[in-house]
Amino acid sequence: MDDHFSATSRLRLATPSEIRSAFREDVAHGLQQRQKTIPPKYFYDQQGSLLFEEICRQPEYYLTRTETAILTQHAAAIVESVGECALIELGSGSSLKTRLLLDECQRRQDRVHYIPIDISASMLEATAHKLLEEYPHLRIDALAADYLTGLSVLPAASCRAVLFLGSNLGNFSPREQEQLFRQLAHTLKPGDFLVIGLDLRKSLEVVEPAYNDAAGVTADFNLNLLGRMNRELHADFDVNAFSHLAFYNPVQHQIEMHVRSEREQQVTIRDLALTVAFRAGETIHTEISRKFDLDEINAQLAPFGFCPRIRWSDARSWFAVCLFQFAKPHDSEV
Ligand code: TRP
Repeated sequence: MDDHFSATSRLRLATPSEIRSAFREDVAHGLQQRQKTIPPKYFYDQQGSLLFEEICRQPEYYLTRTETAILTQHAAAIVESVGECALIELGSGSSLKTRLLLDECQRRQDRVHYIPIDISASMLEATAHKLLEEYPHLRIDALAADYLTGLSVLPAASCRAVLFLGSNLGNFSPREQEQLFRQLAHTLKPGDFLVIGLDLRKSLEVVEPAYNDAAGVTADFNLNLLGRMNRELHADFDVNAFSHLAFYNPVQHQIEMHVRSEREQQVTIRDLALTVAFRAGETIHTEISRKFDLDEINAQLAPFGFCPRIRWSDARSWFAVCLFQFAKPHDSEV
């Protein structure tokens, strides 16, 4: 862990050093599978993080808009429910939605402790400096890390509320989801809170366009993975010879996203001393985005000791923000 304190004592930034080497290993492993695959956390280099911000502004991408409306309407109730807990956020990005909660905290409390965890160090640092200027009551412990690493090195706090917005949970496979719940149960104390934003199941006609916006921003975001391998691993992907593919799988209730090779071709990744062959139409699987059923998620969280408390939704029930409170986990599960 490379720890340093910034000039202002209200900010501490910590960056575990393993991120780049994990990218190398995960790419080497993923591109040699039968179904080629790259984990979605690697979307978020500096460029990817900016492209994601732009996705959130696309008219087809209803998730951010809907969740923001819910948070705007219910920020006071949410903050009142969790009391004066430290706010830990998984995948904080630009913290735009979090501001709605921070506004409310600042109104009620003399001190607010915010602990954002994000894989994009540049985004994390820029956001932290902006927030400190705007919120005089705020103290920030920022962790540039993936979620599991971040959760394992959390600073002390008497009470914690973990925010997991944007339906980011949907980007985890069921197995990864379980791993995360287990880690949360290890980290939290009885009485702590979990606030999750979840995209709910709905018509394919609404969901599919959200991942195929007309302006092509999601396509750029998806294909940026190839650009990132070119930049960071000296690969020679011809980005124009690949295309974006995203479709809804109604059986698994999830968007599946791929990068598709338009022709038969070979790509060399110099830093990995690896040459990879693609058939015409072959894909790299880059992402899932699962859509949720609230009873199901309650049942999946229960064995880890999380009890549903309150849920807030929009008029069309497209999205939900759910508050859980941690009790003691069942011994067998954790
Ligand atoms: N959590 C967001 C979602 O599932 C992340 C996301 C949105 C995303 N659009 C994307 C991830 C496109 C990859 C590609 O909707």
